[in-house]
Amino acid sequence: MPDLAVYPGTFDPITNGHVDLIQRGLKIFDRIIVAVAKNPGKKPLFTLEERAEMLRMALKDIPGVTIDTFDGLLMDYCKKVQARVVLRGLRAVTDFEYEFQMAMMNRRLEPEVETVFLMTGLKWVFLSSSILKEAAVHGGDIQEMVPPFVYQMLRKKFGLPPKD
Ligand code: COA
Repeated sequence: MPDLAVYPGTFDPITNGHVDLIQRGLKIFDRIIVAVAKNPGKKPLFTLEERAEMLRMALKDIPGVTIDTFDGLLMDYCKKVQARVVLRGLRAVTDFEYEFQMAMMNRRLEPEVETVFLMTGLKWVFLSSSILKEAAVHGGDIQEMVPPFVYQMLRKKFGLPPKD
C-alpha cells in the first residue's frame, strides 16, 4: 500500500466532515496531502488562499497532513507530487454517480493512480459546504459543524460579529 494519498476538494470551507475523513484516512496512509482545487466553476465564497488558510488552521495539530493548492487536472497534480492514490469521501448514495464518473475519468487520464473511497462519519452524512453556508448566511447555528477558526471566518464573511 502506498504511504501517500492526495485528498482533493474545493473545501469552501472545510467542515468537520472533511476533518473526520482525513483522520480516518490517516489510519491507512502515513501522509495525506489535502489539495485545494481552485475550482472557479463552483464560484467559491472564499478565495483559494482563504480556503488553504482555513485548512492549515483546522489541521495544524494533525501530524502527517500537508496543505497545498492546485489548478488544472487532479491527475497532473498527482503526478507532480508522485502520489498514486486519491482519497475521496462518500456521504450517501447520491454522491456515488458523480464520484464514479470522476474516478473513471481520472483512471482514463492516469491509470497508475487509484481512487480510494472512505465512508464519511455517520454524524456528518448530511453535511455539505453549500448547505452549511446556506444555514450560516441566515444566522443558523453551525458552530458544531466546523472547526472554530472556520466558524469565525464564516461569521466575518457574512458581516456578523465574532462570537465565542
Ligand atoms: N464531509 C462533509 N462534506 C463533504 C465531505 C465530508 N466528508 N466530503 C465531501 N463533502 C462535500 C463538500 O463540502 C462539497 O460540498 P458542496 O458541493 O456543497 O461545496 C461536496 O461534498 C463535494 O465537494 P468536494 O469534496 O469539495 O469536492 P468537489 O466536488 O468540490 O471537488 C474536485 C472535486 C476538486 C476533486 C474535482 O473537481 C477535481 O479534481 N477538479 C480538478 C479538475 C479535474 O481533474 N477534474 C477531474 C477530471 S474530469
